[in-house]
Amino acid sequence: MVTLHEGSTPLVPAPRLSERAGAEVWLKLEGANPTGSFKDRGMTCAVSAALREGAQAVVCASTGNTAASAAAYAARAGLRGAVIVPEGKIATGKLAQALMHGARVVALRGNFDQALALVRELVDRHPIALVNSINDFRLEGQKTAAFEVLDELDEVDAVCLPVGNAGNVTAYWKGFVEADAAPRMLGFQAEGAAPLVRGEPVAEPETVASAIRIGNPARWEEAMAAIVGSGGAIEAVSDAEIVDAYRLLAAGEGVFCEPASAAAVAGLLRYGPRGARRLVCVLTGHGLKDPQAALESAGAVMPCEASLGALEEAVLA
Ligand code: F0G
Repeated sequence: MVTLHEGSTPLVPAPRLSERAGAEVWLKLEGANPTGSFKDRGMTCAVSAALREGAQAVVCASTGNTAASAAAYAARAGLRGAVIVPEGKIATGKLAQALMHGARVVALRGNFDQALALVRELVDRHPIALVNSINDFRLEGQKTAAFEVLDELDEVDAVCLPVGNAGNVTAYWKGFVEADAAPRMLGFQAEGAAPLVRGEPVAEPETVASAIRIGNPARWEEAMAAIVGSGGAIEAVSDAEIVDAYRLLAAGEGVFCEPASAAAVAGLLRYGPRGARRLVCVLTGHGLKDPQAALESAGAVMPCEASLGALEEAVLA
């Protein structure tokens, strides 16, 4: 088993957000996983299976987090890893991770959807394991987050999730169904990358939330089945709403997630709790993944001369 002891992430109450939303809101901190995102839950399974099946290498297309996770678990397994990312469109922390873990990082002159289409062809021709969420082992691992939520809260009315390639919402629903629970699955996409909301692929997806900059999700049918089957909804949120939620979580709750993760909270604030009394928002990735986005949304640092007077001015004024 190739593991970094992923999972068992904190589930914390969000008092300020609860007040704003008019419901009891809990945050599942998936950024607390070993590589800083929920992808590790699935990657332990997918890479363990690849090793068992004798693959020589693992590959994925990624908006960044899958790449970081695949690179780490490949290193752990002693397998070669290659990650295909859209050139110039992944967050700095994720790029640093993939490179540090020794993966071959390929910057594709195209978007995520094109990268995924190409790696699917690549693995048809070579003995390489594909570890994107079209790999069923990924969902088996990721569904464990639903079990953890149920271990801590005996009742949950709804779960808010950001949706990109649509594997995670599919995995949560699978977990809940297996555990005989049925919270409503509320999925949120960025307005500029909202194929499931529009009902058709988006050729050139665009959003500040680079992790979910996806125009043609691979798990389209399964995700819609989860959303419809749970009595949930799929909605879009603007980049401005995502950034507001991102800042509110960091400054108001002490929880730093990446922009894509904040889409779940942005959606809750925009569309309301829809009758749910208790909800869980899944914060899929850590804020440190994307320092650039943080610096662009946060306040400025305060320069200060090295004197007590100047320091008093800087700290107290
Ligand atoms: N949140 C974060 C931080 C992500 O990295 C992703 C997906 C999602 C949400 C959406 O999850 O794709 O299962 O619907 N990131 C993938 C990647 C696509 O390559 O890292 P999904």
